[in-house]
Amino acid sequence: MPLFTWSSTYELGIPAMDRQHLTLVDAINELHDAMLSGKDRELVQRTIHQLISYTKVHFESEEQLLTAKGYPSFPDHRMQHHAFVSRVLDFHNQYMDGRVVLSAEVMLFLKDWLASHILVEDRSYAVWMKERGLVR
Ligand SMILES: [Fe+2]
Repeated sequence: MPLFTWSSTYELGIPAMDRQHLTLVDAINELHDAMLSGKDRELVQRTIHQLISYTKVHFESEEQLLTAKGYPSFPDHRMQHHAFVSRVLDFHNQYMDGRVVLSAEVMLFLKDWLASHILVEDRSYAVWMKERGLVR
């Protein structure tokens, strides 16, 4: 069973962002599967790396959208993205050094962070843009 089950609750109604969020959810689920499959270090490292790269791609794309539309809470939103990336990078470095293991707690942190970010912060910009007819 996947750790993070996507549902329409997470849809913003902005297709490009929804597709990217779904890809991030898949990346988190893949990492969870890698963890459950016996913690093969190489597989886990590769999967964390994929999650980090795709997270950066998505955040950049979302930040471009927010900038293009003149979203007023952009600075705060970007700060949250940066804080998340640096936490995941920290974890990645510690994992590479053998100082931490990939645990259920880490997986829950990733899942909960993404779920609440989409439901609260991302939904805020989607509502703001829709109210102004900035997205279809
Ligand atoms: Fe975001």
